[in-house]
Amino acid sequence: MCGIVGYIGGQQAAPLLLEGLTRLEHRGYDSAGVAVLGSTGIKVAKRAGRVRQLTEELPKRFAGRAGIGHTRWATHGPANDVNAHPHVDAKGEVAVVHNGIIDNAAALRHRLADQGIDLASDTDTEVLAHLVAGSGADTLEGKVRDALSAIEGTYGVAVMHADFPDRIVVARNGSPLIIGVGDKEMHVASDLAALVRYTTTIAYLDDGEMATLTAGGFTTYRQDLTSTNKTATTVDIDPASYDAGDHDSFMHKEMVEQPAAAERVLRGRLDERFGTAHLGGLNMDARETRAIRRVKILGCGSAYYVGQMGAALLEELARIPADAEAASEFRYRNPIIEPDTLYVAVSQSGETIDTLLAVQEVRRKGGRVIGLVNVVGSAIARECDGGIYLHAGPEVAVASTKALTNMFLGFALLALQLGRVRDLSIADGKRLIAGLQRLPGQLEEMLGREDELAGIATSLAAAESLFFVGRVRGFPVAREGAQKFKEISYRHAEAYQTSELKHGPLALISESVPTVAIVPGDELTDRNVGALHEIAARRGPLVVVTHADVDLGDVEAVRIDVPRNERELDPILLTVPLQLLAYHAALTLGHDIDKPRNLAKSVTVE
Ligand code: AGP
Repeated sequence: MCGIVGYIGGQQAAPLLLEGLTRLEHRGYDSAGVAVLGSTGIKVAKRAGRVRQLTEELPKRFAGRAGIGHTRWATHGPANDVNAHPHVDAKGEVAVVHNGIIDNAAALRHRLADQGIDLASDTDTEVLAHLVAGSGADTLEGKVRDALSAIEGTYGVAVMHADFPDRIVVARNGSPLIIGVGDKEMHVASDLAALVRYTTTIAYLDDGEMATLTAGGFTTYRQDLTSTNKTATTVDIDPASYDAGDHDSFMHKEMVEQPAAAERVLRGRLDERFGTAHLGGLNMDARETRAIRRVKILGCGSAYYVGQMGAALLEELARIPADAEAASEFRYRNPIIEPDTLYVAVSQSGETIDTLLAVQEVRRKGGRVIGLVNVVGSAIARECDGGIYLHAGPEVAVASTKALTNMFLGFALLALQLGRVRDLSIADGKRLIAGLQRLPGQLEEMLGREDELAGIATSLAAAESLFFVGRVRGFPVAREGAQKFKEISYRHAEAYQTSELKHGPLALISESVPTVAIVPGDELTDRNVGALHEIAARRGPLVVVTHADVDLGDVEAVRIDVPRNERELDPILLTVPLQLLAYHAALTLGHDIDKPRNLAKSVTVE
């Protein structure tokens, strides 16, 4: 989704802004632009396409020690040069960049047109520039406040004005903004990735909050301009986390990091003596956890699929009825919120708007929500009553891998803790802990077989359409596998319950439609093998993700044998080869792995 950067200080702003925009490219965008404020006023350069093209075509004279920049992901109007941000007012004295959506933009455009103002672009954002310019307030803060009070919707916004060259005013409502404090210079960005090269001293803006940045510091305040006195803190982040290093993509780097990330999420949380987990951040005592009658998991995309894996863990280990639902659908069906249900929001970014709105819906109706979130201090993390941080480290690639694995482990820890205050025996608790401790090593083992999987992926990449099938515990694995495959290879990959194939989709099976089947060694193996026969009889090519001791009989299939763990924990090990298949298929097809078309890392608009 859109990205914002801003700078004010002693250096030329443009190179810093362009570097910051490059760091935001992973969020997904279709055009980019920068504006600087120098001795001759505001200058703007913007265009459709990549930041690299913008950099190459930047005018020679583009000086200014204050500036704002943007990567746009089109919502109102097509991706072209005119619709790219920054947007300016009629006199070119105000420049604005904006993330989010202005819901009443159409009405405001009409109102401005009635005042004789020509709007240059199709965007909702441009109205903000004209509204700031039209305000009678005598400070930039007052002008921005006036403009914001006229709009309905969500925003992270940064504004410069030629009459106020010593400052940038920013505001947040539903779209993240982070202030970075440097030495006699200040930065602002919508994502930490754009800041960490310059500073790790940061302040997060809250919804409804505004800030003024000058070279010497920043002040924060509410929209009525009363102070919120926010101070900056130092975040513990290694800037190298935002560097792909020797890897060809962030996705590859992040897949390889999974064993280390898994160790981090488990560290200090396993209690071998009592066969349980300790999750201090839940903010619930044993009595409260015992009172939970149901668990409802809310997430989007891969987070939703891993939520389904989590629901299975909770039902099996804690014997609590649990299910997962797409957060994007949840609040639109006026859900019944029950006092003895524990709601669990799961999100890597902590910024996904659908998940955030679902959390707000639950809390508004008095429900208790905990978060399984990777990004510390993110909107969802702050909105929840408690939670489990995933400690996967920054995840840059659009295709989620290490965060997803840690989500699964977060659910395993939660199920263990809830299980052990119920009927899960100490012996089973210890069995699970031993399994969790083996898991990082097994992830390593699986990742070590990349070459073998690359070969299989090449043959799958040739197919226009594929099935991913699994049953019960294996079905969310199939869903996640299909998601990863379509996301970066752009092949049609459909997930289905193996048991449902015969009720329709078998009609599509042919020698040009391969099936990736999840067949763990468990109580359903025989039934799964039966379905493989049905696929093979229709000449459907088969890749079977299974365990070494599973006998596939005379079914002709390419096998991927995955290390075995405890049956409850197997789903995550079965998922990892599917990441590698998707990655190598995309590589074979020559796609940009980290910037898949039409997708964004954080989906911050509904
Ligand atoms: C994962 O590979 C996808 N890019 C996507 O489905 C993602 O999981 C979803 O948008 C949710 O994101 P979140 O975890 O940041 O909330």
